[in-house]
Amino acid sequence: MSKYPLKKLEIEEKITELINKMTLDEKIGQLNQLGPSPLGGFEISLKEKKQMLEAGRITKEEFEAEVSEMKWDDREDDIREGKIGSFLSIRDVKKVNRFQKIATEESRLGIPLLIGLDVVHGLRTIFPIPLAESCAWDDEVYEKSAEIAARETASMGINWTFAPMVDIARDARWGRIAEGAGEDTYLTSRFAAAKVRGFQGKDLSAPDRIVACAKHFAAYGAAEGGRDYNSANMSLQTLWDTYMPPFKAAVDAGVATIMGAFNDINGIPCTTNPYLYNEVLRNMWDYDGMVVSDSCAVSECLLHGNVETRADAAMETINAGLDMDMHSKCFIENLKDLVLAGKVSTETLDKAVRNVLRIKFAAGLFDHPFVDEALPEKVLLCKEHRAAALDAALKSIVLLKNNGVLPLSKKAKIAVIGELAESRSDMLGTWAAMGQAEDCVSLLDGLKNQGCEIIYERGFNVSGEFDGDAILKAIADADVVIAAMGETKDMSGEASSLADIGLHGRQNEAAKLIKAAGKPLVSVLFNGRPLAIEELNDTADAIVEAWHLGNEAGNAVTKVLFGDYNPTGRLTTTFPRHTGQCPLYYNHVPTGRPASAVQHSCKYYDIPVEPVFPFGFGLSYTEYDYSDLKVRVLGDKIIATVSVKNTGTVNGTETVQLYVRDKVASLVRPVKELKGFKKVELKAGEEKQVTIEVDKNTLGFYNAKMKYVVEPGSFTLWMGHDSSSSLCTEFTL
Ligand code: GLC
Repeated sequence: MSKYPLKKLEIEEKITELINKMTLDEKIGQLNQLGPSPLGGFEISLKEKKQMLEAGRITKEEFEAEVSEMKWDDREDDIREGKIGSFLSIRDVKKVNRFQKIATEESRLGIPLLIGLDVVHGLRTIFPIPLAESCAWDDEVYEKSAEIAARETASMGINWTFAPMVDIARDARWGRIAEGAGEDTYLTSRFAAAKVRGFQGKDLSAPDRIVACAKHFAAYGAAEGGRDYNSANMSLQTLWDTYMPPFKAAVDAGVATIMGAFNDINGIPCTTNPYLYNEVLRNMWDYDGMVVSDSCAVSECLLHGNVETRADAAMETINAGLDMDMHSKCFIENLKDLVLAGKVSTETLDKAVRNVLRIKFAAGLFDHPFVDEALPEKVLLCKEHRAAALDAALKSIVLLKNNGVLPLSKKAKIAVIGELAESRSDMLGTWAAMGQAEDCVSLLDGLKNQGCEIIYERGFNVSGEFDGDAILKAIADADVVIAAMGETKDMSGEASSLADIGLHGRQNEAAKLIKAAGKPLVSVLFNGRPLAIEELNDTADAIVEAWHLGNEAGNAVTKVLFGDYNPTGRLTTTFPRHTGQCPLYYNHVPTGRPASAVQHSCKYYDIPVEPVFPFGFGLSYTEYDYSDLKVRVLGDKIIATVSVKNTGTVNGTETVQLYVRDKVASLVRPVKELKGFKKVELKAGEEKQVTIEVDKNTLGFYNAKMKYVVEPGSFTLWMGHDSSSSLCTEFTL
């Protein structure tokens, strides 16, 4: 149950009073979410113009000249007539105030607008993409970046973010794996709750907090083949064991809104699925927030083929318990007739309107719809925020390989190769809201900020450009070579699924060329998903996973490269050896022929079944030794304690991970599941006892009758460095 219930008597009474005054049209207007739209005047659509540009049929100058004349229709008359309840995708504080003024002073009832935007990892101060930040394994980092994002967003008058995205992603081909916290349900649930706390705070009406939105409900990350928007088919047990808990964690943390997913689950589009909204959210979870569709998802039900008309799409959607229609206009065009025809009851309509108004009252929009237009310049990208972005970036970096070449000496002659080294825009990553490339520190910038004399040669890029001679010339006198590799920011995120998650272009060839020239090679990866880097792992002397880290990317990476920061990041997704292994995740079931050296076992004929890097993996500039694992069961608590010693010469922070396996159960259970983690600082040579408590009720699963059960029996428990650690013991429930 939510710790911050939105349903409060005084609000409900105000809503009732307002609803009683509203006309049918005004009620329906509250359920309509739109953004600015390009006015006509084009002989062809803007989209097609963009395609012509990409196809080289018009020049960039021609395109920009035409687009510059484009006028955006801000739909001010619709706002004035109460036909819009929420506006999205505006990034102009003056415009926000103008829209709120129209809504509150020029419409009949003066109902303020919810103004929404995808603030996923920062508004103007851009933090690491969520998949990167999740590697911090740190609730405070997760919460802090959301709190800062809320402060910046609220300063713009934008009062609703479409985040956190809490979709479990087990298939690295899926582009939106970049937006979430990886493959693990337990970690993503902690991430979800921390983000809701950060965005919403304890008082949703506070001037520096915003409404959060857990998305995409549900199982969007289970898209078949990792292809975005594709169908998700699974047992109800898998849905509830794996994909639902992060949403429940968000609801329990008080998330004010939830967004439906584009996909169907087992043949029913989420948008029109009464099981998800009426049954799960309202009846089972007693959810008091509001549900919005994804963009145009209501009308896309016609393409799913479960409805025949836009009116049917509107009817099925609102009757399923989804409250607000993003962008499709199916609600505003059809609900009146549907209500008058009795196909949508007034009770259903009023319930949806009540849910929308509850958020507006709880967010204090009736009391303070406007913002001080001077505020953004004081808040956006301020020093404190940038410092937090650097901290988050440092904690998101994962050291994947180091044969001793790192940390580098600042006196070394360093050659830097690869176009991503100079790229500032790619450091923003996907969904970068109001992030600006010029606010980002590239790898080259970071090296210069460290006072390094470096030789830079582009040499190669992700799209296949390659100049071997230039590379060899540039590295000839170098003591060490840093190769910036990976993906551009457009290669992950929405509608950016990849059929090949290997290094694109001739990146591996560049790495081999550098090694063949006898140079130590440090590969710095800038990417938005796990990559199949077996070849690189065989070639490079060191691999630093630097994701898309936001504004402070270059500073964070160089602090790690020179040892000013001892890397602490741990992977939250499995890195496959080959795309053909996808989906690949650590908490899989054993099967009757567990993968082994035996030919007839669950593996591939042509490549090893193990990943290149397992879930939870990450190196440090020091080493940690685990010993003396003990566990005891005390009532509902399983209390595990282990000794961790920093056996190296450098102070560090270790993330102790606790995994459990239910050895025998009525349904097959994963070979191991993360059930706890704790970070511990250890000076060189220092040893500490680390204790993690696990609530027995978290060791259950949905049985064949779809009942959540914790079955008695024997369990194995591991505490260690990552999901492949071997130190384990047993306990019995
Ligand atoms: C997109 C995304 C969703 C986002 C919405 C509004 O298509 O699926 O995550 O919040 O549209 O931009």
